[in-house]
Amino acid sequence: MLTTAFIVAPVKQELAEFERRFRHALSSNIALVDVVVRYIVHRKGKRVRPILVLLSAGACGGITDATFRGAALVELLHTATLVHDDVVDDATTRRGFASVNAIWKNKIAVLIGDYILSRGLLLSLEGNDFTALRITSQAVRRMSEGELLQIQKTRQLNTDEATYFRIIRDKTASLLSTCCEIGARSATSDETAARALRDYGENLGIAFQIRDDILDFLGTESLIGKPIGGDLKEKKFTLPLIHAFSRAPAKTRRSILRLLKDGVDRGAIRTIAAFVKEYGGIDYATAKASAYSDEAVQALSPLRPSPYVASLERFARYVVERTK
Ligand code: IPE
Ligand code: MG
Ligand code: MG
Repeated sequence: MLTTAFIVAPVKQELAEFERRFRHALSSNIALVDVVVRYIVHRKGKRVRPILVLLSAGACGGITDATFRGAALVELLHTATLVHDDVVDDATTRRGFASVNAIWKNKIAVLIGDYILSRGLLLSLEGNDFTALRITSQAVRRMSEGELLQIQKTRQLNTDEATYFRIIRDKTASLLSTCCEIGARSATSDETAARALRDYGENLGIAFQIRDDILDFLGTESLIGKPIGGDLKEKKFTLPLIHAFSRAPAKTRRSILRLLKDGVDRGAIRTIAAFVKEYGGIDYATAKASAYSDEAVQALSPLRPSPYVASLERFARYVVERTK
């Protein structure tokens, strides 16, 4: 859960109800599935996505049973993608603990990811939530495309800023936008409200991912629960690095590229992080994240003021300041 209790306050009880439903949605009578799923359920994330679904529904007039199913659907989908992501990236830790693939190997991690996704889809299908399914399926397509485009660019070592934004819109913003839109549509049939929340979520998601990419340069392992410089190890060109590249002299650029090509160790991570700071990459990315956070807040303007809307506004401020 978010440490910032003041954001969650209007949906605190509903979030507890979500947790029960989430756990229930994953139950299985196959012992192997049950043991892996329990492991995942006990290492909770921040619950950003279900909180967004609940707040968005609240902002549009009320949390319904469909809202809870929507919240479970997006968190199940998110959880499945994280399990798969750690296989794709060969990551050994997640949320400060050993990743599923590190403990049970890739084969099981891939199948568990599929299992979790299928449970989310079935839950929505049982509720006849076809709108939620349509919106979410689009997001799944965008998320896969975003990740694949990132891999393609990683191989070429040449991502530019426009491509970076395309990647993060697809791989991250699409799902946060989905959360807000399905939350809204679970509560109202008002198009203006649903579009406002969809746009809020997209801008919020962009700000969220830029902050995530900044944290990869800034944070400490104990703080964010994952190793620093992970993106550099994967040769991912994120906004701070792209910007520093655009400003550095050719000679410096070449030596940093060489480091990246050769595969970075701890020393190289320090060198590249210092390079990124020196050429204003962190400051630039921080300013961009703030701008998208402001856009997110702007998008909320058609909505009637309420504690939910106020929380969504705080949420937009929080994502660009967060340290985990
Ligand atoms: C991680 O998302 C993947 C990104 C899109 C950056 P979160 O940071 O929301 O992950 P958890 O659920 O809190 O672990
Ligand atoms: Mg990844
Ligand atoms: Mg990251």
